[in-house]
Amino acid sequence: MCGIFGMIGSGAVDKTLSALKRLEYRGYDSAGIAVKNGGCINIYKQAGMVGQLRKSVPADIVGESVIGHTRWATHGEVSQANAHPFISQHKQFAVVHNGIIENHLSLKYRLQSCGAEFTSQTDSEVVAHLLEANFSGDTLAAVTSTAKQLEGSFAVVVTTAHNGNLYAIKRKSPLVVGVSGNEVYFCSDIRCLSQYAVKVAQMPDDTVAVSAPSGSVAFYDFDGNPVSVKFFTVDAAEDFADFDGDYMLKEILEIPEKIRQAKKGYFADGGLNLTAKVVHRIKRIYLIGCGTAYNSGLEAAALAREMLNIDVLPVIASEFIYDRYPVDNTTLAFLISQSGETADTIRAAERVAETGGFTYAVTNTSTSTLRYACNKFKNICADGEFAVASTKAYNCQLITLTLLLADIAYLKGSIDENVHNKIIDSVDSLSAAIESTLADSYQIARLADEIKDSSAVFFLGRTRDYPTAAEGSLKLKEISYIHSEAYPAGELKHGTLALMEKGVTVVAIATDSALIDKMSSSIAEVVTRGARVICVSPYGFSNATVVKIPVVNRFMFGALSVVPLQLLAYYVAKRLNRNVDKPRNLAKSVTVE
Ligand code: G6P
Repeated sequence: MCGIFGMIGSGAVDKTLSALKRLEYRGYDSAGIAVKNGGCINIYKQAGMVGQLRKSVPADIVGESVIGHTRWATHGEVSQANAHPFISQHKQFAVVHNGIIENHLSLKYRLQSCGAEFTSQTDSEVVAHLLEANFSGDTLAAVTSTAKQLEGSFAVVVTTAHNGNLYAIKRKSPLVVGVSGNEVYFCSDIRCLSQYAVKVAQMPDDTVAVSAPSGSVAFYDFDGNPVSVKFFTVDAAEDFADFDGDYMLKEILEIPEKIRQAKKGYFADGGLNLTAKVVHRIKRIYLIGCGTAYNSGLEAAALAREMLNIDVLPVIASEFIYDRYPVDNTTLAFLISQSGETADTIRAAERVAETGGFTYAVTNTSTSTLRYACNKFKNICADGEFAVASTKAYNCQLITLTLLLADIAYLKGSIDENVHNKIIDSVDSLSAAIESTLADSYQIARLADEIKDSSAVFFLGRTRDYPTAAEGSLKLKEISYIHSEAYPAGELKHGTLALMEKGVTVVAIATDSALIDKMSSSIAEVVTRGARVICVSPYGFSNATVVKIPVVNRFMFGALSVVPLQLLAYYVAKRLNRNVDKPRNLAKSVTVE
């Protein structure tokens, strides 16, 4: 989704390259920097990761200010020409951009008709040319009038040959400003600033910022009126951890501890934090998210069906925005997002709020855009997650959502105190059960060897096990690139059986003792057609290789049974020599719709 960085101050080239490395989780198909010195702007950029860019930047280059970018392609293939920064035709303005300029084509045609020559297929390049076209002596005026002409979502940092300032423009895409003495920083992620800046501020939407070599920063709306923005002290805990191994494995191994932390954090922060009056008014609950966060909503909805007598619907955020899901003042929406920066989820929160619903963010960052877009916020306390494929955040989202839904069910009287307490207590035994499952990971590593050459892998589950199947399938495909799909097991016989043959692997999840016979029949159907079957279950299956998991409270099975699947995805990807932390065509934080 692209990470952007810009700074004025000493060591700007090196600091920018280091920051871009840390921002790679946002995109890593190409990278570049623009180095400003005197009246001259030099661009270094190329396809590939930041490590490659670093090799191409002369070691002795010095910049008064530098802007940088790491890209996740949206408009235009991965190539040097499409890498940022972009410089205007007469080399007066260079820009880096995160977001999508929706009206880029009409702006481009207009600029071309006035003689501008474009060198890329991107939407972003138009900003550099527009700045130059709008410049008539006053740089701030050029920046504000450019901002006014852009449609879509954009965080832009601008360097100019006209002066030593850096300028920034922000609408809907994240952008943080940091200061320390006479150094100024702009960045997509606050966590990259904690080692450089003393104070930071989130740039509000529809503002521009002007930063000077003196260390001053001023904010304006798009009409040029001053805007006051509050700075706060950087929280060092928000920093990235440096680690040499695979973050994904590290993060899976942290799950038991993070689950304990999620429970502790939930109660330390006051639990549900909704009044009985608000809870009684709720007639409909949406669980909204994307990717893994959606899957945690899918699982939480299955659990809610056992606790609540009202509609609890999981919805993919990008669908929720444009579909006609009913919302009124009896609606509560949980907006689930590890990063709290996923554009679709933020838009969904806005749609709920606009139509009178109550919004509750469930995120892993206390300073995210989503948090501030919602009425309430709960931190899942998973700590920084750096592998692009989400693991521990899923488990912590599930625990947090289960506690939130159990509190609502208890206040509504649909579960009694005994069930409510059991749910809360069972979180501790869940951590112990996950620890014992992790201790058996050698079995999963062995199975990974056996299935790494599968032509396809299908994940099957019934009721609460189907969301686990969906998450297991997503994990496997996103980091191993093996074709994979998830189905409710009973749906198999309505078409997908056609694909079962030798070379296909089926992973069944069976945690409900009442559905063992049904799952056994589904397994028999695929075995008959030549597929090999692995079954994650506390129970025995004679026609499958069973990965045994302990028995836990029924509301906890989802957070347990996904762990062997997370490990399976990891080991299969390793066997196939994939980059497990940075898989192809994926970004950690998807900040464009
Ligand atoms: C991207 C990531 C996924 C993540 C999804 C939602 O697709 O690659 O791992 O689940 O975004 O991200 P969020 O930060 O909203 O949970």
